[in-house]
Amino acid sequence: MDLKKYLKFFGVRVVSKSFFLIAMVLVIRTLLLPESWGFGGESPPRVRYLEVPQIVWGLNNQKIAFARACLTARLLNRTLLMPSLSATLFYKEIHQLHPISFDKVFQFDKFNSLCKGFVQLGRFSDLQNRSDTLVVQKGSGRKWTVERDLDQLKELNTNEVETIQVVGKNPFLWHDHFPVKDYAKVFECLVLVDEISKEADKVVAKIKELGSESKMMNGYVAVHMRIEKDWMIHCKKREQRSNMSEICSSKYEIMSRVANIPGLKLPTVVYLAVADALVEDGSILNGWREGLVAVEKKKLGVLEIYKKHPYLIQAAIDYEVCSRADVFVGNSYSTFSSLLVLERSAKMARMGVVTACGIGMDVRWPSYAYNLKAMGESGPRPWMTTLTDSTLQAISYGSNNISC
Ligand SMILES: *[C@@H]1O[C@H](CO)[C@@H](O)[C@H](O)[C@H]1NC(C)=O
Ligand SMILES: *[C@@H]1O[C@H](CO)[C@@H](O)[C@H](O)[C@H]1NC(C)=O
Ligand SMILES: *[C@@H]1O[C@H](CO)[C@@H](O)[C@H](O)[C@H]1NC(C)=O
Repeated sequence: MDLKKYLKFFGVRVVSKSFFLIAMVLVIRTLLLPESWGFGGESPPRVRYLEVPQIVWGLNNQKIAFARACLTARLLNRTLLMPSLSATLFYKEIHQLHPISFDKVFQFDKFNSLCKGFVQLGRFSDLQNRSDTLVVQKGSGRKWTVERDLDQLKELNTNEVETIQVVGKNPFLWHDHFPVKDYAKVFECLVLVDEISKEADKVVAKIKELGSESKMMNGYVAVHMRIEKDWMIHCKKREQRSNMSEICSSKYEIMSRVANIPGLKLPTVVYLAVADALVEDGSILNGWREGLVAVEKKKLGVLEIYKKHPYLIQAAIDYEVCSRADVFVGNSYSTFSSLLVLERSAKMARMGVVTACGIGMDVRWPSYAYNLKAMGESGPRPWMTTLTDSTLQAISYGSNNISC
């Protein structure tokens, strides 16, 4: 429709074509640039960015690395350019680490709205000048101490360049300068995209369906059972090196500790989060005490849901299933278990629960470490993350220090 006729219809008399055009330009300008209304307005401060290398390795290492990159951006007063995660789990050949965009796994806008005022993510398409970049190599080697690393970061706190690009090591290997509660804040802003959380919904629905068919309590216990060969070799070495005996747990030790969780309402479904090799084997389902109905992906009939996805997404689904469990039992030396307990502890803290260490305490979202025995009991030790710790070390490298 002709605009002139349109305006006339509403009683606006257009004096001349050029006056009309000038008026339209002003109107459009005002609509597009509300900040510059009045022409003398200040332009908004240019956003500054931090770029980090592709984030690699297991789901947990990737989550920690991502959070460390966020907290580094926060320290530098910069927006983190949305990094690539890795869909597959290759340790040696970097070119085989299939990059997967962060927003294919976690919700981008949700992250920015939940973390507003703390840390923000940006897109490469937001950059104004791609070449206005300072490339920074993080130091390495024994002489590169935590202090030197922090000094380097402080020197980088400059507003001059649009982008600071850190090259080299992945952020999981950077020195840590941040308290546990800051990591917890970043994790709180990570919400899975619908496509993945719906897959977790399906798995949880299957678990609950099984529970209600057998008239069980409408909840479930999740056990992150690390007994596969690779882990056993790794943890035995570790026990020898650190002269400790409470790192590895056999299948029987785990079964017995879980069976002795005080106050557990039976019967209940026990979801076993285990490596695929153990799912194929099937023998981990046998030997559980009466009232504990053990299932894994195969038994639940959800193997197909997992198999559709690459490694990272499979791990994210399992993580979500464990995170929603009424009771979680894991190994205090596993990063997967430790991150779960960190997030469950943060969730409890938000509900006002300060400690869940007492045996048989009636709290929501309790967690336990099966590799540690409860004091004077035969059950697993209650486990809560100390959210006031000044570094993430206890979680990244595993420990028996579980605050309970
Ligand atoms: C942080 O950056 C914003 C713009 O991105 C700027 O407005 C603010 O003053 C900066 N704060 C500090 C402490 O440098
Ligand atoms: C982009 O940044 C480079 C490096 O700082 C600078 O030399 C160049 O003039 C900039 N280009 C524009 C269009 O601002
Ligand atoms: C290892 O621990 C045991 C007891 O916990 C102790 O008796 C032994 O001396 C330790 N060995 C070393 C090499 O530290």
